[in-house]
Amino acid sequence: MPVYSQKVMDHFMNPRNVGEIENADGVGEVGNPVCGDMMTFYIKVKNNHLEDVKFKTFGCGAAIAVSSIASEMAMGKTLEEAMKITPQLVANELEGLPKQKLHCSNLGAQALNKAIENYLKKKRRGGGK
Ligand code: FES
Repeated sequence: MPVYSQKVMDHFMNPRNVGEIENADGVGEVGNPVCGDMMTFYIKVKNNHLEDVKFKTFGCGAAIAVSSIASEMAMGKTLEEAMKITPQLVANELEGLPKQKLHCSNLGAQALNKAIENYLKKKRRGGGK
C-alpha cells in the first residue's frame, strides 16, 4: 500500500474545483493508457488569465488529488504561466507521490495544457476574447 503525503490525502478527500464550466472557453480531455483513467479540465479565460478552472476526474485517488492541486495552481495565472505547470511541479506541490503513482501526475498537467490549447485554437479561428 503506497504511502501518501498529508497533502495528497487532503486533496483526495476534499478536492477543490470539482465540476464542469458551462460554456467553457477551453476544454481538455486526457486518458491514461496505463490504467484507463480519464480527466477533463474546463477553463474560463479573461484578459489572458485563467479566471476559473474546474475538472472532472474518473480515476484513482492520486489522479483526483493531482487534478485538484493542478486546478489550484492554475487559477488566476496567465495562460503562459499555466502552460509551464509540469507533472513534476504538480507532484512537488503534492509533497511527492509514491513512485508507482507518478504516472497519475501526468494527467493533470496534460489536461490543463490541452484545455489552454483548445482555447487558443478557438481564438485563432475567431470568436475568442
Ligand atoms: Fe490511473 Fe492513477 S492509477 S491515473
